[in-house]
Amino acid sequence: MRKAIVTAAVVAGLLGGVAFHASGAASPVSVTLPPAVEAFPGGPEADLARRHCLTCHSSDYVYSQPKLSKAQWSAEVIKMVKVYGASIPDAEVGPIVDYLVAQNGKP
Ligand code: HEC
Repeated sequence: MRKAIVTAAVVAGLLGGVAFHASGAASPVSVTLPPAVEAFPGGPEADLARRHCLTCHSSDYVYSQPKLSKAQWSAEVIKMVKVYGASIPDAEVGPIVDYLVAQNGKP
């Protein structure tokens, strides 16, 4: 779990606490946020996946699948393009598929 410290001043600010600022009694408040999930970790191919696969949904869609073969990931990406209208240039489909196989694939 990642913890973020939000000062009481921010909370008070959100509540419109102008009077609070005048008091200056800011004490830290600890807020627990959901764990940060890195969407598509890695290098250049990860950039492609980030650019093309996060416009409609989160990377959870990829990681919640069972391990798919290269042919299956290829079919998934083509489905995103043909059925859901993702605009992925042909030349970038191959590198994205390779990346998906590396992330959550099987031979
Ligand atoms: C234009 C919008 C759009 C883009 C861009 C997009 N998807 Fe999807 N994706 C969808 C929709 C819509 C669904 C179905 C959602 C549902 O059923 O809840 C989906 C579902 C999925 C699923 C779940 C299995 C399935 O077939 O329904 C996977 C895996 C997936 N997307 C992967 C990807 C990957 C990988 C990329 C990038 C190459 C991508 N998506 C880009 C719209 C998109």
